[in-house]
Amino acid sequence: MSYTKAALITDVPEGKCVTVVLDNSEVLLAKIDGAYYAVSNKCPHLGGRLSDGTLEAGVITCPKHHAKFDLKTGANMGSAKIAFFQVGVKDLQTYPVQVEGDDILVDLC
Ligand code: FES
Repeated sequence: MSYTKAALITDVPEGKCVTVVLDNSEVLLAKIDGAYYAVSNKCPHLGGRLSDGTLEAGVITCPKHHAKFDLKTGANMGSAKIAFFQVGVKDLQTYPVQVEGDDILVDLC
């Protein structure tokens, strides 16, 4: 495991998410119920930028076709919707997070 500093804890308010770039990958950091989580910012369906979506109660909705993901676990919570069709979507890539002092560290594995 190789943790990299991603942000300061003050950069990520409760119930919000921010985007950082680590090793040329966009990572979405979020603070939910007092804990920090890191996931890929790229939707596993067709690559929608999740940071452009909406976050509500720890669930982010992709701006492209509205698939939903639990930011704590990466679990898919709702299918993509294209016209009248619903399409199954894989779970979202998650990354281990540690907090050291004021720093949020992420392991891209
Ligand atoms: S790209 Fe995210 S739901 Fe289609």
